[in-house]
Amino acid sequence: MEEWFMEERFILDEKTIQNKVEEIARQIEKDYEGKEVIFVGVLKGAFIFLADLVRKIEKVDVLIDFVKVSSYGASTETSGVVRLDFDTTMNLEGKHVILVEDILDTGLTLKYLKELLEKKNPQSLRIAVLLDKFERRKVDIEADYVGFRVPDRFLVGYGLDYAEKYRNIPYVVELKE
Ligand code: IMP
Ligand code: MG
Repeated sequence: MEEWFMEERFILDEKTIQNKVEEIARQIEKDYEGKEVIFVGVLKGAFIFLADLVRKIEKVDVLIDFVKVSSYGASTETSGVVRLDFDTTMNLEGKHVILVEDILDTGLTLKYLKELLEKKNPQSLRIAVLLDKFERRKVDIEADYVGFRVPDRFLVGYGLDYAEKYRNIPYVVELKE
């Protein structure tokens, strides 16, 4: 295991995050060079990752759309029920689509969203997440682009919230009471 798993308080600093987002952008450019891709951000958490990611992409025609789901409420544990607050507005049929999310935890949210978007018949559908809490998976789903595999701790910042707070912190840090 990498040494940051051993740290008292888990932190991913700004530079570390930006370098990783750059890496993911390069990989996406390699995979989709010259093509058009619709990036579908999952609100609210993904808004910062999505914004940074697409600004690092030049060799792909970038289109942006959003979906919004809620499942958490003001708790650190998922309720297990995913509710769609709003759906995409673009026609995804025959398009290359990348679903962009802040964190893959139990997998319930992304499994739900993947099935929702697949019904819209995109030409291809991939998933990009900044963080992967791989130990917590309850359903069979993996992301195609993963920034960091992270330990089972409650994280805030860089889009991630606790009761709607801390999304604006420019790095990711473990929440301590
Ligand atoms: P999943 O459906 O359990 O995979 O949960 C995914 C959603 O849970 C993400 O979109 C986040 O909003 C939220 N989530 C999971 N872990 C954390 C965390 O450590 N901090 C903040 N939000 C989290
Ligand atoms: Mg979220």
